[in-house]
Amino acid sequence: MKKDYILPDLNKARNRRNEINRETFNIEDKYLDLGKNKTYFIETHGCQANQRDSETIAGLLDNMGFLNANDENKANIYIINTCAVREGAEDKVFGKLGSLKRLKKERKDLIIGICGCMAQEEKTIERILEKYHQVDLIFGTHNITSLPKLLYDIYSQKTKKAIEVYSKEGDIIEEVPVTRFMSHKAWVNIMYGCDKFCTYCIVPYTRGKERSRLIEDIVKEVNELKESGYQEVCLLGQNVNSYGKDLKLGYGFDTLLKEVAKTGINRIRFMTSHPRDFNEDMIDAIRDNPNICPYIHLPVQSGSNDILKKMNRKYTIEEYKDLFDRLKAKLPNFAYTTDIIVGFPNESDEDFKATLDIVDYCKYDNCFTFIYSKRSGTPAANMEDDIERKVKEERLQELNKKVTYYANLNNQKYKDQIVEVLVDGPSKKNSSVYSGYTLDNKLVNFTGDNIKTGDLVKVLIKEVMSFSLNGVKVDS
Ligand code: SAH
Ligand code: SF4
Ligand code: F3S
Repeated sequence: MKKDYILPDLNKARNRRNEINRETFNIEDKYLDLGKNKTYFIETHGCQANQRDSETIAGLLDNMGFLNANDENKANIYIINTCAVREGAEDKVFGKLGSLKRLKKERKDLIIGICGCMAQEEKTIERILEKYHQVDLIFGTHNITSLPKLLYDIYSQKTKKAIEVYSKEGDIIEEVPVTRFMSHKAWVNIMYGCDKFCTYCIVPYTRGKERSRLIEDIVKEVNELKESGYQEVCLLGQNVNSYGKDLKLGYGFDTLLKEVAKTGINRIRFMTSHPRDFNEDMIDAIRDNPNICPYIHLPVQSGSNDILKKMNRKYTIEEYKDLFDRLKAKLPNFAYTTDIIVGFPNESDEDFKATLDIVDYCKYDNCFTFIYSKRSGTPAANMEDDIERKVKEERLQELNKKVTYYANLNNQKYKDQIVEVLVDGPSKKNSSVYSGYTLDNKLVNFTGDNIKTGDLVKVLIKEVMSFSLNGVKVDS
């Protein structure tokens, strides 16, 4: 039976091909009323790339007449868009599949779907096919636009399960329907995939080769967003700084930033920067365009040259510091954050000390810290590791203490200051408290009257916490 399916293959996913096809999306008429009187629910894990993919999945389903289910227990289709970056992210999904199994016993017509990065992993899919028979639908990160066909195959009983996971990267398909989950800020893909192959990371296998969208398609999308009232775009890529290299058209991320800035949209963010490809032209483009937000996320991963080498990060800590200094010199009032992995295989006390030192050097506004998680199929998974879990946990705690110290220190300058906040909406816990982000990406909780999601408001900061600011709206 497995023969009928297109299943993932990590070895094939390692390969990089030259040609990328560019297409415009098309949907066959026979799929268009498949969703009549049916509802869906999408649960999204992982990074912004997955958030954006879920918006595409929602767009496709809406196009086919499905409705978004208000109650997740009542949906006809339940799709989990998964993340494979660490084991913890995967465990959550397996847990959820357990509870959906019970739901499916009550409701035989429920279709359970798995997509996203876990769908690209062969071991995961083997496990699901063996043990999680409740799953009806599996599609990979390169197969999202096949969703209408896969659902058609299930509903027309052509197949009991529908599975399609390509291990070669997908083509670039423009004009795919999208239902955005927010009406004031939007994710905009500028490129897909990753070619960096950091030895611990599964992403280059689950997302394929680096491939950039054309600048005119991106600018057109941002212009449309601006016209429909969006205040903010976040340009997405695993390494935005290598944007355009694959196109060989003579432009890169600096040109893209300038062109997007010209649209005049209020706030432009980008995620994620890789230190290796961050050049002076990009720093200048950021400095010279006031609608580019004063915030840079610059993952360092480790402070030790030995570990950086084993990680295949392609820079030394001296190069990282030099870049950081140049950024600080030209962009002094920006907020800087990073990602750090502790407990990489055989990380020594000195290696860890070097990581603490880089945090002291950069005094980050925030750091996202993780304990190394072994990812099957990656080179680091075969590295010897004699470091006990307990030691790794202690290191994480020690690191987090330092991170919190600098986060708090950096936030002190906001006390009694007025900041501009883009309102995300009322807080879940207390509907009289609103939340939103400053230009430099600080989370602000505040009170006030006549506040709507998507407003740009001025907030007086009354209280400073390590990872958020509290205040009241003031008249501008
Ligand atoms: N492309 C981005 C990050 C993608 S994953 C970049 O290179 O910065 C987000 C973060 O997850 C990484 O920066 C890294 O810190 C962490 N991460 C990735 N793989 C991991 C693993 N196997 N174990 C622990 N953390 C990991
Ligand atoms: Fe993973 Fe490294 Fe690529 Fe980031 S740059 S997605 S950490 S391989
Ligand atoms: Fe996770 Fe895939 Fe993003 S592994 S972090 S959802 S690219």
